[in-house]
Amino acid sequence: MNLGLKGKAAFVAGASSGLGLATAIALAREGCNVTICSRDQERINHAAGQIIKHDWADAEKILPAVCDVTQTAQIRRAIQQSVQKFGHLHILFTNAGGPKTGLIDDFTEKDWKDGMELNLLSTINLCRYALPHLRRAAHEDQHARILMLTSIAAKQPIGSLYLSNTSRAGVQGFAKTLSEEVGREGITVNTLLPGFTRTERLQHLVDYLMDQEGKTKEEVEAGWAQQASLQRLGEPWEFAAAATFLASKQAGFITGIALPVDGGYSKHVL
Ligand SMILES: NC(=O)c1ccc[n+]([C@@H]2O[C@H](COP(=O)([O-])OP(=O)(O)OC[C@H]3O[C@@H](n4cnc5c(N)ncnc54)[C@H](OP(=O)(O)O)[C@@H]3O)[C@@H](O)[C@H]2O)c1
Repeated sequence: MNLGLKGKAAFVAGASSGLGLATAIALAREGCNVTICSRDQERINHAAGQIIKHDWADAEKILPAVCDVTQTAQIRRAIQQSVQKFGHLHILFTNAGGPKTGLIDDFTEKDWKDGMELNLLSTINLCRYALPHLRRAAHEDQHARILMLTSIAAKQPIGSLYLSNTSRAGVQGFAKTLSEEVGREGITVNTLLPGFTRTERLQHLVDYLMDQEGKTKEEVEAGWAQQASLQRLGEPWEFAAAATFLASKQAGFITGIALPVDGGYSKHVL
């Protein structure tokens, strides 16, 4: 299938590792020009270097940018840099790191504010600053996509992930509302809900549970795997494949959905 992504410009947040990096790689391999961002110059340059070294994209098609998505000025600047370099913005992928873990008494008011800034407000601000460019892309190329990474925790809360469970549900509400408003302009808005997938973030959760529950790494991972229909954890490229399809020309009649990529972890009927 021709996904119609060649020459399209994408902005992928939180892309120095994990699900963001996998998504950037998949889009680059489909011929997109990709801006990748993270908080850390060295890590994001390294990620760009890996994409180029593996011949997944030519150097001029990848722009590494430093952008802490909790900082509005940095979002504005990174999106400007991206549009200046590639001339357009067709695809926005919102993402950031995961918030702190703990039980209700573990969090201060600042923790709650930080968690909402990291995973909810960052998403809203990325969309706000990308929208003028996406509107132009929809008008000129009939190709404008917003993809938001949330978590399966938005549908089925996970113990000790209070901040994630709460902020992701907020993003789902925001995404659905935005899809209603910008649908008539030809912009699609969809969310992807990863289940347990092998990344640096997952390793942090493993460490937390090993500490809290006195389990081994294997026991923690087996516990998650057993809850999925497919009886295993996911790989970042599997998430990225789903994101790439939703970013494609072919996904033009899909909007407002919340797509679990979780191996059957969540048990809701619809
Ligand atoms: N893996 C899973 O099983 C799973 C399941 C459900 C949801 N999630 C969620 O998916 C998201 C991505 O996590 P991941 O699993 O891909 O883990 P990861 O490998 O730790 O990736 C997190 C990425 O976000 C970047 N980042 C962190 N804070 C940022 C900020 N303030 N501004 C910009 N970039 C930031 C990190 O880069 P720098 O450190 O270089 O800034 C890194 O590139 C997280 O929100 C996580 O909670 C993951």
